[in-house]
Amino acid sequence: MQDAKKITLAIESSCDETAAAVLKGGRRILSGVIFTQIPVHQKYGGVVPEIASRRHIAKIMPVIDEALVKAGVTLGEVDQIAVTYGPGLVGALLVGVSAAKALAFARNLPLIGVNHLEGHIFANFLCHEELEPPFVALVASGGHTALMRVDGYNDFSLLGNTRDDAAGEAFDKIARVMGLPYPGGPEIDRAARVGDPTAIDFPRALLTKGNYDFSFSGLKSAVLNYLNERKMKGEKINTANVAASFERAVVDVLVIKSFEALEETGLDTLVLAGGVAANSSLQRELKNAADKIGVRFFCPTPDLCTDNAAMIGCRGFYQAAAGKFADLDLNAAPSLGLQNSASTDSDFGGESRP
Ligand code: KG4
Ligand code: ZN
Repeated sequence: MQDAKKITLAIESSCDETAAAVLKGGRRILSGVIFTQIPVHQKYGGVVPEIASRRHIAKIMPVIDEALVKAGVTLGEVDQIAVTYGPGLVGALLVGVSAAKALAFARNLPLIGVNHLEGHIFANFLCHEELEPPFVALVASGGHTALMRVDGYNDFSLLGNTRDDAAGEAFDKIARVMGLPYPGGPEIDRAARVGDPTAIDFPRALLTKGNYDFSFSGLKSAVLNYLNERKMKGEKINTANVAASFERAVVDVLVIKSFEALEETGLDTLVLAGGVAANSSLQRELKNAADKIGVRFFCPTPDLCTDNAAMIGCRGFYQAAAGKFADLDLNAAPSLGLQNSASTDSDFGGESRP
């Protein structure tokens, strides 16, 4: 069958969203359904893994059914199944992986194991028809911050990676200490809009030229120390200024390293991905810097920045087009990261399917 007509059912359950989507070809979303557990986890100030797994179990089949109905597609019309197998919470991942394997086995359909972080990058293909590799991708999510050189749909090289806390993790931890609800990223984004980003001089780490790794734990500690000192002295904390100054420190590092990577690779296209890509200041600063030197800048729409299954379907489609399928022994890989494509071929479980 022609690839452009292939129907992919995609499943995502790596953290606190149970999601399914149906795609026609690589880039056309027929349906996307997301059941978010955020309100459940909010009262604990973060994701409780056991609760997440139980919620996924209760919701996975209804969400898949709804995605098929909304797409006007029956299970019999599905050509392949793509599922996130890592990184994420092991119990949460296993729910999606088990559902996908059961459906693939029952219907004798090809199974595609997708790296969630690669999925985030591919969300951009769903939003920008004209986007093609090569480009530099900045991935900033709850658990990872990385720079990738993307030379083809299955050809990646890792330029730099998370050393300690990821960008999203720092947003969430600082918001929590400031008494803002989970997830902290959107809350800090909102608070920062009315704050002064130059009010407090927080540190920027690993800014040596040619170093594309990221470290946000020092920044996190500096903000926590600042807040504790003010509290101990009984001084009032200006939440907007702290949020804006912290956010500026994160954004500065992400912008500087992204543009150094563009300079070193000689590429003229920058792609932003992951939940932190929804940050308004980060989007604005990257766009401004890109416009100044004639670099093309792409970012997904807000609903496709954060976790969703459509991006998993898109990544899965391009993997399948290159014959990268998984076997039915596909397992959850909670600590899967971004790697060079040459080293990931074995992770797909071989090329056992057509
Ligand atoms: O990619 P994602 O939805 O889940 C993971 O794969 O981790 O990313 C979630 C992260 C959270 O840390 C959340 O606080 C952050 O993305 N986030 C934001 C914004 N929206 C979500 N961070 C900064 N500004 C935002 N507007
Ligand atoms: Zn994610």
